[in-house]
Amino acid sequence: PSGVARGRDGGLSVAGVPVAQLAAEHGTPAYVLDEADLRARCRAFVAGFRGMDVYYAGKALLCKAVVRVVAEEGLRLDVCTGGELAVALAAGMPPERIGFHGNNKSVAELSRALDAGVGRIILDSFTEIDRLTVLARERGVRQPVMIRVTVGVEAHTHEYIATGHEDQKFGFSLADGSAQAAAERVLDDGVLQLIGLHSHIGSQIFDTAGFEVSARRVLGLHAELAKHTGAELAELDLGGGFGIAYTSQDDPASPVELGAGITGIVEQECAARGLAVPRLSVEPGRAIIGPAVFTLYEVGTVKPVDGLRTYVSVDGGMSDNLRTALYGAAYSATLASRASSAGPMLTRIVGKHCEAGDVVVQDEFLPADTRPGDLVAVPGTGAYCRSLAHNYNHVPRPPVVAVADGRSRVIVRRESEDDLMALDVG
Ligand code: LLP
Repeated sequence: PSGVARGRDGGLSVAGVPVAQLAAEHGTPAYVLDEADLRARCRAFVAGFRGMDVYYAGKALLCKAVVRVVAEEGLRLDVCTGGELAVALAAGMPPERIGFHGNNKSVAELSRALDAGVGRIILDSFTEIDRLTVLARERGVRQPVMIRVTVGVEAHTHEYIATGHEDQKFGFSLADGSAQAAAERVLDDGVLQLIGLHSHIGSQIFDTAGFEVSARRVLGLHAELAKHTGAELAELDLGGGFGIAYTSQDDPASPVELGAGITGIVEQECAARGLAVPRLSVEPGRAIIGPAVFTLYEVGTVKPVDGLRTYVSVDGGMSDNLRTALYGAAYSATLASRASSAGPMLTRIVGKHCEAGDVVVQDEFLPADTRPGDLVAVPGTGAYCRSLAHNYNHVPRPPVVAVADGRSRVIVRRESEDDLMALDVG
């Protein structure tokens, strides 16, 4: 994050607080959030996407303090389960600024969303249209909804996080006519209020070409629907997925470039089709929170293996960062507690779990004198690390520590063994 600097003693500090102090006060591993950096990213998106609504995709990292920050900075919130909705409401996010996603929302979840008065529900199946229509009719509520459209775009990202192509579980297919049929069902029925179409092509995408194709295709349906009803839909959401730099090889576009690019594409396409430009919205998660957080670990063992590389074991692992194991994600790491003039040593940073795939950083050069007791920082862990964290081997999940103006505070406390045992009621 932008608040990280190396102090005179060679150790890293964030927002004026040395990492050694953070480790002493809060223990390791810990997710360390640079609050000013998070706010700056929110502001960059609000400025870069001026005139559009920016929904923070809470699945990336959701807790009350983060919801309050994004709300204060003028963002809205995308949630995709009843649990996420509960956190949003507990944090005081105004319900009309919440969008509710998900491919299998239950009756209970939809009821809760209707009763809370969420701003929009993004519909994902015919079953859901029928389910929500019944619930809204019972309540006499004209709920604003969007239709999630599968646009048939192959996003160049990992298979597990690509969602625009046809053969996956999300949305209504554009190609086979389901998307149009879904929109017409909602429009003709008139119980729900169709405010617009939605498309999300995937995550960790660098290439704006995918957004271009998706905007063109979804606006094609937007135009068809205008013919059907004689009125144009007011809104269009192009989803999230903006990539961030995990290593020095990644070169993401800035929010200003993205905002200008997306607006340009939509304006051009609307002009060509003689349509009014709908109100646009986007749903960045990773790009808002990812770079604002690093994970602080303590080194436990250092084991050279047969001239190949050195395995550096830290006190967390795949339970606090599943992304390396699940997606083959690339991360970097740095010696955080001190400077070293030792030469580089090829390492693999691994965790403490009973599994050989328990890797945090696949390949990294650390100083050759890296030793037990050193602190190591892995940057870019704000998105989908705490939220995918789990308890394999009964390892409690780390805290989230927010740092601002020379002070740190725990915003999500460390899980304890008692927390885990409390569920074990046998
Ligand atoms: N909108 C929708 C409808 C989504 O499904 C997602 C992510 C987003 C927005 C936010 O995408 P972002 O801007 O954060 O890329 N666990 C995976 C990522 C799964 C993303 C799921 N949906 C990972 O760790 O890479």
